[in-house]
Amino acid sequence: MKVGEKSVKTEPIGSLRRTHTCDELRSEHDGQKVTLMGWVHRRRDLGGLIFIDLRDRYGMTQVVVDPAQGEAFEKAERVRSEFVLAVIGRVRVRPGETRNANINTGDVELVVEEIKILNPSKVAPVQVSDYQNVDEALRLQYRYVDLRRPSMTHNLVLRHRIAKAVRDYLDSQNFLEIETPTLVRSTPEGARDYLVPSRVHPGSFYALPQSPQIFKQLLMVSGMDRYFQIARCFRDEDLRADRQPEFTQIDMEMSFSGQDDVLGVVEGMLEHMFRTVMGVDIEMPFPRMPYHEAIEFYGSDKPDMRYDMRFHNVEEYLSETEFKVFKSALEDGDSIRALVLPGQATASRKVQGELDEIAKSGGLAGLFFVGRGEDGSLKSSILKHVGEDNLNGIIEFVGAGKDDLVLISAGPKKELLAGLGKLRVELARKYELAARDNYKLHWVVDFPLFAYDAEEDAVYPEHHPFTSPHAEDFHLLDSEPLTARAAAYDLVINGNEAASGSVRIHQRELQEKVLECIGLSLEDARQKFGFLLNAFEYGAPPHAGIALGLDRLVAICAGQDSIREVLAFPKNASAFCPLTEAPVEATQEQLELLHLKVEHPSA
Ligand code: AMO
Repeated sequence: MKVGEKSVKTEPIGSLRRTHTCDELRSEHDGQKVTLMGWVHRRRDLGGLIFIDLRDRYGMTQVVVDPAQGEAFEKAERVRSEFVLAVIGRVRVRPGETRNANINTGDVELVVEEIKILNPSKVAPVQVSDYQNVDEALRLQYRYVDLRRPSMTHNLVLRHRIAKAVRDYLDSQNFLEIETPTLVRSTPEGARDYLVPSRVHPGSFYALPQSPQIFKQLLMVSGMDRYFQIARCFRDEDLRADRQPEFTQIDMEMSFSGQDDVLGVVEGMLEHMFRTVMGVDIEMPFPRMPYHEAIEFYGSDKPDMRYDMRFHNVEEYLSETEFKVFKSALEDGDSIRALVLPGQATASRKVQGELDEIAKSGGLAGLFFVGRGEDGSLKSSILKHVGEDNLNGIIEFVGAGKDDLVLISAGPKKELLAGLGKLRVELARKYELAARDNYKLHWVVDFPLFAYDAEEDAVYPEHHPFTSPHAEDFHLLDSEPLTARAAAYDLVINGNEAASGSVRIHQRELQEKVLECIGLSLEDARQKFGFLLNAFEYGAPPHAGIALGLDRLVAICAGQDSIREVLAFPKNASAFCPLTEAPVEATQEQLELLHLKVEHPSA
């Protein structure tokens, strides 16, 4: 291969093997002859000596080549970043002042006697060292180079450790890891399916599983009792930082169990994982928050509990005011809520204007501010309208300290809570109120069983149609199904939905009723889910389960905003793989074999 001007001769590895990794050598190896293999992270020419930082997945070792080494020195002059080398030499303890505390091997260096260039490398389009903000498309196209960056290697190692801790824990709790099929019948999790055409059944398609939901329930009917799987799931949905078209679940199901049993196992599993992998003791047991409280106080079904900023109903303090915004809001049956922004009592007009903009972009009509000046006096644009007593009352009621700023907004309740929920998240981001290494885990419980889509005039399951209603709410299925609560729960970690699960229906009659509530006729229900309904008649035990998003869990632990950073080969935002360029068009021959014709959408 020609790299730059010179052609580089490569040498076979033959029977040569490394004696150590690039992270292993220490002072006690002083004087030993060793062989390392790895990639050239950096090469420096310093006054005759050549220094090479040799890198592998484990770490980095400094290699020194002296001109006296003749052939080795000539080769060292030719190597460039990302060349693959074998180096043979003697370990030497570095003099005190040249030790490097930033790397594990920083007390020593390897004095080279022989170098083998195992393979050269072109100049990589993605730099492994001195990494700058490289375009993500390029990183994904050259992912094999991108993954050499120590931070990316770290993410994959972390992923492995998390998955292993989970496996070990579940194994210790009698869970069996069982694989379920990938070519399946559609599983309703609310997204579009990826379809796979059948060659032997013209016009018929398998779906790729959106989750192993139905199979894991069937495994309970089979008496497997405790199942888990680190399962790949496929969903054709709009992609975001926390969504990929294929992703991985830690999928679990337990027989003769209810909500408390599932929550207990997941708490134990995550306590074990956080302690053994992250060295962190998380709060046990995880707090539980009813869904309606999450919405009422935080405007979200996945509130981040690393910070407070809970909403307070301050209508009582504003009911007498003639101030038009509040007066007409209350007359119209709208709501008024306040939240406390810590430490911003003296925010300038300009900053208040910025906060108002953030609020408006999240769908709120606007914000009013109440704070205190340096001298402790009330400062607010609504002081005149609302009066000192009422504002002092609000400040006391919401628990604002003298340094805090109170934000007030009014509007129709649903929109107001949703808008404040977004504002809360944005404020936390702007003022860095949420430390990445602070892990707050909590459950949201008592979700509604169904949601109503006014546009489509359709009722659909809030979780999935196999979720059991709350035992006390069975009777509501006939009269007011939209008010029925589900025996469903979500795990929230730092404002991310990390897991979802529920107690399942295990009786045919109840399952048929729930399917009917979401608009499936008995005939349709039997046609789509007949096999499951039948299974329920052959001794289905009561069971419950959950699935954690492994990618999200790892991203949170790795302090990453996007799950793409913890996947070896993710797709981009348009579900395209820039590395392999999948998806690609099928050949005419393939299409004919599958009995398919493609009609391209007109531009
Ligand atoms: P659900 O659809 O809520 O439940 O999924 C469970 C968890 O999987 C993760 N997740 C995703 N992660 C990355 N990309 C995606 N596109 C994606 N979609 C979901 C989330 C989510 O909480 N069968 C049920 C579980 C059960 O009831 O046992 C299910 O799949 O972290």
